Amino acid sequence: MTKIPQTPAHATTGRVLHGAGLYDVLAFLFTRGRERSLRERMIELAGLDAGDAILDIGCGTGTLAIAAKRKVGSAGAVFGIDASPAMVAKATRKSASAGVDVTFTNAVVEALPFPDARFDSVLSTLMLHHLPRRVRRQCFAEIRRVLKPRGRLLVVDFGRPQNRHGILAHFHRHGHVDFADVRAMLTDAGFAATDAGPVRFSSLQFVRASAP
Ligand SMILES: C[S@@+](CC[C@H](N)C(=O)[O-])C[C@H]1O[C@@H](n2cnc3c(N)ncnc32)[C@H](O)[C@@H]1O
Repeated sequence: MTKIPQTPAHATTGRVLHGAGLYDVLAFLFTRGRERSLRERMIELAGLDAGDAILDIGCGTGTLAIAAKRKVGSAGAVFGIDASPAMVAKATRKSASAGVDVTFTNAVVEALPFPDARFDSVLSTLMLHHLPRRVRRQCFAEIRRVLKPRGRLLVVDFGRPQNRHGILAHFHRHGHVDFADVRAMLTDAGFAATDAGPVRFSSLQFVRASAP
């Protein structure tokens, strides 16, 4: 078994968000009040099963991790990590007030603080565009390490923007992801199969991959 990384949470060249207080308001605006249906679509794409162990990387304020825990039920386990202590604190408060048991930890995707083959599924939503290309490679190697054989990865992120004006365009100033490049990196990282497509929500795209 490989050594579990102990890299400090601040050790990332990714863009860390500290505005945890505003994040849910921005998510409401971005989704035009339909965040719940976007999260349901993400859960559907992830294909989670009752009893699964799930890791949400770059979990932000924890909305998706909380929805994932509701899906996998009491036999399942959900963990969320984020490089921002403020995001982790907010996610922890949200899950406690919702009465949903999710463990949130301050950590970076480059060095996940979990043993090999721990998870059935890893979720990465709206996070990849925060990482430089080199860090994405590190991130995929780490995800591959913590996934069980035949474990699954779901990536959802901004594809190339079609509309350069208005509120949605504002969010694209954060950047977007080249999904062909992502699929190639996943193959390089040893993932067995991938598929991809539109989330049917703004310019969001998804990639799914499975560990061999
Ligand atoms: C736009 S938010 C997405 C949050 C959430 N996944 C969602 O779907 O709403 C991106 C998150 O990635 C986090 N992040 C950026 N670089 C990171 C890294 N290297 N490791 C862990 N989290 C990171 C940021 O702090 C931020 O909370």
